[in-house]
Amino acid sequence: MRRALITGSSGLIGSEAVTTFDSLGWEVHGVDNNMRREFFGADGDTLWNLARLRRVTARFTHHDFDIRDQSRMDDLVKALRPQLIFHCAAQPSHDLAKARPLEDFDINARATLGLLEAARRHCPEAPFVFMSSHNVYGDAPNELPLQERATRWDYARKEDYEGVDESCRIDASTHSLFGASKLAADLLVQEYGRYFGMPTVCFRGGCLTGSSHAGAELHGFLAYLARCIREGRTYRLYGYKGKQVRDNIHAADVCAAALAFFEQPRAGAVYNLGGGRANSLSMLEAIDAFESRMGKKLSWRYEEQPRVGDHICYISNLTRFRRDYPAWSLTRSLSSILDELARDVHATPSS
Ligand SMILES: NC(=O)c1ccc[n+]([C@@H]2O[C@H](COP(=O)([O-])OP(=O)(O)OC[C@H]3O[C@@H](n4cnc5c(N)ncnc54)[C@H](O)[C@@H]3O)[C@@H](O)[C@H]2O)c1
Repeated sequence: MRRALITGSSGLIGSEAVTTFDSLGWEVHGVDNNMRREFFGADGDTLWNLARLRRVTARFTHHDFDIRDQSRMDDLVKALRPQLIFHCAAQPSHDLAKARPLEDFDINARATLGLLEAARRHCPEAPFVFMSSHNVYGDAPNELPLQERATRWDYARKEDYEGVDESCRIDASTHSLFGASKLAADLLVQEYGRYFGMPTVCFRGGCLTGSSHAGAELHGFLAYLARCIREGRTYRLYGYKGKQVRDNIHAADVCAAALAFFEQPRAGAVYNLGGGRANSLSMLEAIDAFESRMGKKLSWRYEEQPRVGDHICYISNLTRFRRDYPAWSLTRSLSSILDELARDVHATPSS
């Protein structure tokens, strides 16, 4: 029987990976210590998602420890010798990173190195999938010429229409400390592929979403927006007139990409992975879409100052991944993602 080790297994991508691989008959081991609650308070609590995983899976084992605990991580990798490592645990927020720079780096970069090292020692042949981020490009994508439309910013030039590809530079730009720690990890994951020949991949995610996201103000904007409307909470919009654009990919399509990589791994691969132009929308468009689906108005406040390093218009160019994995495609449209979140987003657990 195949075995997968998934870090961040109670979070959005990790939990989707647990159910995906469990349903394929794999033995699945997840590591998560509900750190998201520590980061974001009650909004970030993931225990409800862990309880759901325990209910719906057949061969899932949860390991409640911190990925920074190198000796436990090494012991686990040694004991399991998994056929796949899917590394999804992270401190995921720009804004939190500036308040906790050492912790952010320790989790995002140093613990990733620890996991790579454990993999190199005990299962170097196992595909290693790392959830990287579009924030590795810092604010370089903001240099693309833009045009302002009624409800969104968009690229002004025809050649940028499909979005940002992997040739975008990764340095000489402002990343936020979060972007810098993810970039450090991204480079290490590439290096273990190139230097040691291990089958590693960095998926530089656009906005990843789904109803199992514990949406919080500082991370998981679509799930948080849906929660705010449902619960009558005030949402804060930061800068760019609310016309900033993100591309949104459902967690299921991310896990399908991980499976495609498992089946046909490469060493040191890097791909942008998001919803692409078809699944892009601006904040104003997202508010409008949820208000009409949920039949309720959002109370929102506009803050003039954008978040540091925030993208004005970010769309993932998927050409490289589609070229290398032609059987993969996006299966969740933007409209189906919005329907799911409007219907199923989890209520905020009481604090
Ligand atoms: N969600 C997005 O929009 C997005 C975009 C680009 C990249 N990413 C990346 O994708 C990955 C998954 O994102 P997500 O949205 O599923 O995040 P998430 O916060 O929903 O899931 C991450 C999980 O990791 C756990 N975790 C964090 N630190 C831990 C630690 N030290 N030890 C053990 N567990 C720990 C958390 O409790 C959480 O359950 C992350 O690496 C993130 O940076 C996410």
